[in-house]
Amino acid sequence: MQTIFSGIQPSGTLTLGNYLGALQQFVELQDEYDCYFCIVDEHAITVPQDRLALRKNIKSLAALYLASGIDSNKVTLFVQSEVSEHTQLAWILQSINYVGELERMTQYKDKSKGQEAVSSALLTYPTLMAADILLYNTNVVPVGDDQKQHLELTRNLAQRFNHRFNDIFTIPEIRIPKVGARIMSLQEPTKKMSKSDTNQKGFISMLDEPKQIERKIKSAVTDSEGIVKFDKENKPGVSNLLTIYSVCTGESIESLEQKYAGKGYGDFKQGVADAVISVLKPIQDRYEDLIDSEELDLILDKGAEKASFTAGKTLKKAKKAVGLGRVR
Ligand code: TYM
Repeated sequence: MQTIFSGIQPSGTLTLGNYLGALQQFVELQDEYDCYFCIVDEHAITVPQDRLALRKNIKSLAALYLASGIDSNKVTLFVQSEVSEHTQLAWILQSINYVGELERMTQYKDKSKGQEAVSSALLTYPTLMAADILLYNTNVVPVGDDQKQHLELTRNLAQRFNHRFNDIFTIPEIRIPKVGARIMSLQEPTKKMSKSDTNQKGFISMLDEPKQIERKIKSAVTDSEGIVKFDKENKPGVSNLLTIYSVCTGESIESLEQKYAGKGYGDFKQGVADAVISVLKPIQDRYEDLIDSEELDLILDKGAEKASFTAGKTLKKAKKAVGLGRVR
């Protein structure tokens, strides 16, 4: 059985973008692969976090994974900082990762732009991500479109390490959904939907109340043409809503265009809102049952133990390949 690894940052409540681009595919893949899904809290601290909010978000993300349909009997679900091999391998990989490569990462450029003080962890963030993936002999990494460049770097680092020291790392493949890999902001549809957006109306949180979801979709930016048609260049707002509608219902974009031919944006937006609510509401109900349950801690304990076992073996090989420590 091939192995999958993916992670999500506990840096705020997940958005519909995180769900459609990542979580939803995780659920589909759990039957076919040996899956490791991680709550990457060490990635979250590359930008300032409130201590208590971070703790709360870690648990909340674990509950959201499960509420979305992740089955803890099938996958290994764990918190990154509870498996210390991640930062240890990241340090080794930093020794073969060039500063120039890291400075070219678009996410680094975006996040550091205009900041007075940028943490060095923000720069070396992709090296930690490479360590996450490589520790588990990962074959496939399901992610949204924005992680492509980080995955390319991971592949390069694995190849460089294998070539320079010893052939120990599996070279992972990226897996991006055909539709929904980049859900855009509802207010600025040329920008990706992000949980760190200061404009609350730009994103739908997975825990937004149905009324809030409806309001946000109704106020989504479209255009003055009044025609429901997919045209990313000229109609980014409508195209984004069509994408969301299609991924939530499984209906093709063409069939949705036909369904709304001759109708206005009012009807169309109501349809999008209903589709999103029907996906998120059952997840929200399950989330409420899980968030304060003891079960959650037990699942994460078991996950960390299992992940440490695999990660420990890979780290040992990497240290040996590089010559760290003593021969015993
Ligand atoms: P993060 O936490 O920003 O996002 C988690 C996942 O959601 C996807 N995503 C989106 N997909 C579609 N449309 C959007 N608007 C959207 N926004 C986010 C992301 O592509 C991602 O798949 N660096 C990663 C976390 C990470 C990781 C890893 C991922 C750390 N280590 C190892 C894979 C493997 C991140 O910041 O994701």
